[in-house]
Amino acid sequence: MSLDIESLFAQREAERYALHARYLNEQMVRVLRTIGFDQAYQRGKGQYLYDRNGRKYLDLLSGWGVFALGRNHPVVRDALKKVLDSDFPNLVQMDVSALAGVLAERLLRYVPHLEKVFFTNSGTESVESSLKFARAATGRDGILYCSHAFHGLTYGSLSINGDQIFREGFGSLLPGCVAVPFNDLVALERALASRTIAGFIVEPIQGKGVTMPSDDYLRSALELCRKYGTLFIADEIQTGLGRTGRFLACEHWGIEPDMVLLSKSLSGGHVPVGAVLTRKWIFDKVFDRMDRAVVHGSTFAKNDLAMAAGLATLEVIESERLMQNAERLGARLLAAFGQMTGRHELVKEVRGKGLMIGIEFGAPRSLKLKASWNLLETANSGLFCQLIVIPLLKEHRILTQVAGHGNHTIKILSPLVITDEDCAWIEQSFETVIADAHRVPGAIWSLGKTLIENAARARASG
Ligand SMILES: Cc1ncc(COP(=O)(O)O)c(C=O)c1O
Repeated sequence: MSLDIESLFAQREAERYALHARYLNEQMVRVLRTIGFDQAYQRGKGQYLYDRNGRKYLDLLSGWGVFALGRNHPVVRDALKKVLDSDFPNLVQMDVSALAGVLAERLLRYVPHLEKVFFTNSGTESVESSLKFARAATGRDGILYCSHAFHGLTYGSLSINGDQIFREGFGSLLPGCVAVPFNDLVALERALASRTIAGFIVEPIQGKGVTMPSDDYLRSALELCRKYGTLFIADEIQTGLGRTGRFLACEHWGIEPDMVLLSKSLSGGHVPVGAVLTRKWIFDKVFDRMDRAVVHGSTFAKNDLAMAAGLATLEVIESERLMQNAERLGARLLAAFGQMTGRHELVKEVRGKGLMIGIEFGAPRSLKLKASWNLLETANSGLFCQLIVIPLLKEHRILTQVAGHGNHTIKILSPLVITDEDCAWIEQSFETVIADAHRVPGAIWSLGKTLIENAARARASG
């Protein structure tokens, strides 16, 4: 007997929203229905998703960044099938994994100043590990993080989350965690000067809002960390593995962090995986005696599927020149969106590196537009971006979203395999929708009115 998973999907996929409303997260279903994102995709291939009618969508979310290679990449899939068809001695535990050794060796070739790898199962687990490593290595308790940071949602990571909405309602968090404003070296030095800080953790480019570091920020921050004996931890979970046109985003600023955190696209999106790349002396402080050989770890880390997917992913990044593609097409999109700032008063700023791009909208100058903008802002700050992403999906079949709560920035985090043709699709679609948003009265602002009314109705009905 075998499980016919394809038939099961075909038989039950139409019930997905009902199943989720009943057994999983009902609020998520409500969100999807409210903004019309309940598309019930049937298939994913490369940078595209397909609905029930076979219509093709360009996915600029890439599953929050895991599908840098696009969905179902044949090289990753093939490697995974081979592992499943093999009789590899997976997860023996009282032995070590050959594939993990090779993946660690290959990852460190990209980051030669680091010497050790610790594998995990997710982004937040990489973050948690780095916090423990920093405390163990320095003997200090404090952790510095940046306001608006996102490092994951388990307790340690939540304690260094720079966004209040994620923290509310979950009780007391890890002590010793202190926020400093991103891009503020004076505040950083003030906090470091206490000499109680084990690690400073930072996303080289903040995912929330796609906030760029000022030119000297990361380098000076690293120097300050050195001065005060604090470890510099680069969270490259979103920016790493070629997303910004370099293997690590840190390379753009020529810095060598003490720890580098990876996850998301490391397995091509197929299998959960994460990694902490670190200096040897830090690693050795944690695993310092034989009886502490398993003092930190996780049962499924280093499993063969994750390691094989990681190895295949690195091969594809090289063979398909994905870093170069990200750099070239990212520059193309940045230039195209940059021109829109001049043409459309609602577009305030465009920023990013490679295929991590933020398009920020802001209050317009002209009176008619300003009145509509203010009305929307008063009802729900950040709602304006939904007036762009909804028609992008409905009319242009482009899947994208806002870069964080209450935010006015739409983020492009596309697969790195997109083409010039896809870029033309993106440019034309955004241009049409943004131009439409400048028409008052018009379809976009009517949509705003409907969303406000729907939200009020939903609130009233609890
Ligand atoms: C920069 C960064 N760090 C950590 C995480 C957490 O990763 P995970 O969702 O795999 O726990 C994310 C997820 O979006 C992220 O963007």
